[in-house]
Amino acid sequence: MKNIDHLSIIDSTFNVDYSNGVIKGKNVNKAKKYLKDLPNIFRHGDAFSKMDGDALIYEVQAILPVDEGIEGGLFYGKTIIHPGKVGDEYYMTKGHFHQKIDRAEFYWGIEGTGMLLLMDQKRNTWGEKMYPGSLHYIDGFIAHRTVNIGDTPLSFGACWPSDAGHNYQEIMDNGFSGRLIEVDGKPKLIAN
Ligand code: PA5
Ligand code: MN
Repeated sequence: MKNIDHLSIIDSTFNVDYSNGVIKGKNVNKAKKYLKDLPNIFRHGDAFSKMDGDALIYEVQAILPVDEGIEGGLFYGKTIIHPGKVGDEYYMTKGHFHQKIDRAEFYWGIEGTGMLLLMDQKRNTWGEKMYPGSLHYIDGFIAHRTVNIGDTPLSFGACWPSDAGHNYQEIMDNGFSGRLIEVDGKPKLIAN
């Protein structure tokens, strides 16, 4: 935390554009995920092998006011998933459990339409619809992945504990037990 003079009024360090969730300010972390960064996420069929590995799938901005792993702090992020599909499978995030698996998180929809895929440790998978204003409490012990089911960008915000961490390995190895694919122009959750 910075030193603040007694009885002073100051500007906050960050602000957010409510139309698209873009975070503005200094030291905003940025990451881009391309198809080539997402092995074992999409089905590796014909459609996958014909696609350009440099296709941009999603982008994340995050504010990390304390070091990762510190207990008691909070992180704030915004993800944008571009519209598109690999075959019949919509563009989506890698998905993860938290490293400290009991840690919870809030997500909220900002623009576009999507689906929040949730999976418990018994591998039950279900989806919650995402839209501007949708609010999602992701309990601890629940893996989470987001999917853009529309033809415009899907943006959503997130707030999670600074000691939660991301455990990607379980999903890289075993995936979710359900996949969201497009059937007759509509999203359908099918067994993996
Ligand atoms: O902390 C979160 O849950 C989000 O900020 C995600 O990290 C973000 O949506 C990207 O998804 P993933 O971390 O599964 O690649
Ligand atoms: Mn998370």
